Amino acid sequence: MSQTPNHLILKAIRQEPVTRTPVWIMRQAGRYLPEYIKLKNEAGGFMNLVKNPDLACEITMQPLRRYSLDSAIVFSDILIVAEVIGIDLDFIEKKGPVFDKTIRTDKDFEILNKSYDINNLDYVFHTIKKLKNELNGKKPLIGFIGSPWTVATYLIEGNSSKEFTNVQKLLKTNKPLLHNILNLLTDISIDYLNKQIESGIDISMIFDTWGSLLNNESYEELSLRYINKIKHSISKTGIPLIYYVRNTESKINQIKNLDIDVLGIDATAKIGDIKRAVGNRFALQGNLDIEVLRSDEKAMIKSVNDLLEDYNSPVGHIFNLGSGITPDIDPGKVKLLIDIIRDISPSYNVK
Ligand code: CP3
Repeated sequence: MSQTPNHLILKAIRQEPVTRTPVWIMRQAGRYLPEYIKLKNEAGGFMNLVKNPDLACEITMQPLRRYSLDSAIVFSDILIVAEVIGIDLDFIEKKGPVFDKTIRTDKDFEILNKSYDINNLDYVFHTIKKLKNELNGKKPLIGFIGSPWTVATYLIEGNSSKEFTNVQKLLKTNKPLLHNILNLLTDISIDYLNKQIESGIDISMIFDTWGSLLNNESYEELSLRYINKIKHSISKTGIPLIYYVRNTESKINQIKNLDIDVLGIDATAKIGDIKRAVGNRFALQGNLDIEVLRSDEKAMIKSVNDLLEDYNSPVGHIFNLGSGITPDIDPGKVKLLIDIIRDISPSYNVK
């Protein structure tokens, strides 16, 4: 059970009436904030922030000091789980994640550490405990994992290549290996997410960024099946689950049947279309195009109004972007956006 059950986001998740639409922003802590850049430079890189609970806690809090956000999200990354099976992860400026090994053959899989210890990620659990103290029940805390499929695509490619050549090759030539990788990552995800819940997160989220690379049949077999297993493992805790996938609309008929609490939508979909497709099966999160943060105030107000109007229901909506915020965005524009949502959304909610 969440320790912040009456917060706006938790109410929106349960599709209960709210007086305004709650809001948080994917990657709300990060490179568009000068105070983040400063700490990252002092610490000597992203991983040094993530692995230090004091710094990870501080970075998580930075956007909450600037803006009236309705939730915090643990500062970490979906790829750190690689380290528990013996694959080292580094983040290179302007290049992104890089691993010291890839998994492309049965032999690559054999040498992984399958008797992993989830406590190797202790720093995340410490960060969560610190944050719970710091937040003191004032704001809920979101914890997250990557979907086994999405994490697997990075482990197979070894970096964030967008061609997925090696993933495509494995799909054609070695499905059993894919399932071995996915089963291992699912076991780890179950342990990791449950430990985050024990440490105090109020909401859980699964990022399945690359789920929509798969055709419908493979999406069911290689992604959704494992998501269901993870969801089942946390069901008894009462902690709600947000599921995010890019190109949400292309997979909506399958997602419709998932046992989730919230669907995170990317900016290519119209939220009204998704709402009509899913009814009130679950709440929706999203999905403002980041482009709006590059426009002027008048255009921003119009875009927020259009989105709320398109959603067209007083319950079950969490405002967010359709993707993570990028380093080029002006922090002043983020403040403006959040103020606009606070001003406008009450007229779409229950008075
Ligand atoms: O949202 C938050 O504030 C919480 C922290 C968070 C990060 N990554 C921090 C981060 C979360 C939830 C993620 C999720 C994540 N990480 C995803 C799924 C969501 C999505 O963006 O599709 C994926 C695919 C990753 C893997 C990853 N991490 C990549 C490909 C990159 C490099 C490209 C990029 O966007 O920067 C990262 C780096 C990363 N993760 C940064 C941050 C703040 C930037 C680090 C830096 O250089 O300072």
